[in-house]
Amino acid sequence: MEAASRAYAPYSKFYVGAALLFEDGSVFTGCNVENASYGLTSCAERNALFRAISERGPAPKIRAIVVVNRNQASSAPCGACRQVMSEFVTPDAVVDFPGANGPETKPFAEIFPNSFALEPQP
Ligand code: THU
Repeated sequence: MEAASRAYAPYSKFYVGAALLFEDGSVFTGCNVENASYGLTSCAERNALFRAISERGPAPKIRAIVVVNRNQASSAPCGACRQVMSEFVTPDAVVDFPGANGPETKPFAEIFPNSFALEPQP
């Protein structure tokens, strides 16, 4: 919620915060950052992930993802964020988000099965 208070969302007025819990116990947060061109908007979840990777590289993996918003609206992570997260989550990672009837916690594998993947090249 504190991260969401820093969101730059003048166009949607939808203020999102995300926190990622990593295997080593570290937590990184992010907020959404919008742009007048709309399509260049970056979600809170991806901003949190990119912040973590930028600061200390792509390891360790994410164990839990929490998403909130200051609009008291139900809001599951968007498909683009699920695809991006899929390369950095543990097999048993969970996602907590505001559902229609309050907070919901689901396995990441359940909300994003059959992710697109390429074998990393040598
Ligand atoms: N948004 C997020 O930050 N995360 C989500 O999971 C869904 C949507 C942002 C993008 C945009 O700034 C605003 O919410 C409305 O779509």
